[in-house]
Amino acid sequence: MIKLRMTENQPIIFAIVVAAGRGERAGGDLPKQYRQLGTKTMLRRSIESFHYHPSVSETIAVIHPDHEALFAEATASLSIADPVHGGDARQDSVRLGLEAVAARGGADYVLIHDAARPFVPGAVVDRVLDALFQGAKAALPVLPVVDTLKRSDDGTRVEETVARAGLWRAQTPQGFDFGQILGLHRDWDGTAATDDAALAEEAGVDVITVVGDERAFKVTTPEDFARAHQYLATGYETRVGSGFDVHRFADGDSLMLCGIEIMHEHGLEGHSDADVGLHALTDALLGAIGDGDIGSHFPPSELRWRGAPSAIFLQHAASLLRNRGGEISNLDVTVICQAPKIGPHRDAMRARIAEILSIERDRVSVKATTTERLGFTGRGEGIAAQASVLVRLPNEMGDE
Ligand code: CTP
Ligand code: MG
Repeated sequence: MIKLRMTENQPIIFAIVVAAGRGERAGGDLPKQYRQLGTKTMLRRSIESFHYHPSVSETIAVIHPDHEALFAEATASLSIADPVHGGDARQDSVRLGLEAVAARGGADYVLIHDAARPFVPGAVVDRVLDALFQGAKAALPVLPVVDTLKRSDDGTRVEETVARAGLWRAQTPQGFDFGQILGLHRDWDGTAATDDAALAEEAGVDVITVVGDERAFKVTTPEDFARAHQYLATGYETRVGSGFDVHRFADGDSLMLCGIEIMHEHGLEGHSDADVGLHALTDALLGAIGDGDIGSHFPPSELRWRGAPSAIFLQHAASLLRNRGGEISNLDVTVICQAPKIGPHRDAMRARIAEILSIERDRVSVKATTTERLGFTGRGEGIAAQASVLVRLPNEMGDE
């Protein structure tokens, strides 16, 4: 995927998603991280939380050597780095992930995340990163403990009540200064630790807490899977967006339309590659999340967008949606022109849009109509396109 660097000097942030466990306590035929949650596997959801986050430079998955084929299937059409193999314990998997980042030239910061938490809101990632940007060497999301806590050695008889004041539940992603956490993992004596902040605490590093989120819950047992399915069924709302665009014909012998180059007796005039179909679609996506329009994100006054492939604009809009935990249900583009004929290119256009957006082809529709030689399109002065898109967004999006 093309990541847009909005500013120079952006820190290099890697995300490591550890997924090398066996996922046995969750039951089921497949390891839990490869089981389907709605339209995607749990692992893909966890990876996408970072892959589509605008601040994250690169996401690396750590997987079990036996799961290569499952991983390839789960991440089909997602352009991410090859996974690295994990180890016997979670800590080994994290260390191997950190070594893979080091082998790629290192990073300023690293986010370490359990694949078993598939619904991390972008706002949680932002809060962890903000703590790092403000100087923290280690930061993690936490939630208060609300239940009364009991200690029981055998689970049948209570020994005592444990005071819950000052106790917090730790979540992931946990964020660190990359060089420091790499060093701590390399030097670690191998005793069990269930998270990475524990290594920093042990070394006397100040570990900073930020507000976590119930949606970042960890899937461990079959009951947690039921909770995940329940969340998918009730935690989302449907939103719609529409877009419209026009470009005038210009001299040329080919034009870009819905991501495909078509030979024609005219080109299209425009600052970018003038792909009127992708522009309408980009506006539809931005409309669905109420985030301005293509001109506000990619001002025509900026030289860097001259001749730019419109796939970049579309991918950026999709990243904004996905960074809010959203996904595309379906989209529908109508191209309005007298010529060229769209029919012969329709399948290629659908395939290309599906590829740009990393979604299934059957979620994409491309249609075309003439205007019976009426109006500017009918007179052959240019091409218009309109698009509609339906998206699913987590319910509380408006709060963030
Ligand atoms: N993990 C890992 N390498 C290991 C063990 C665990 O990368 N050797 C990862 C898991 O894939 C998971 C996270 O660490 O994303 C937290 O571990 P857990 O929830 O215990 O997952 P599993 O070990 O896979 O599950 P189980 O213990 O039920 O078998
Ligand atoms: Mg485990």
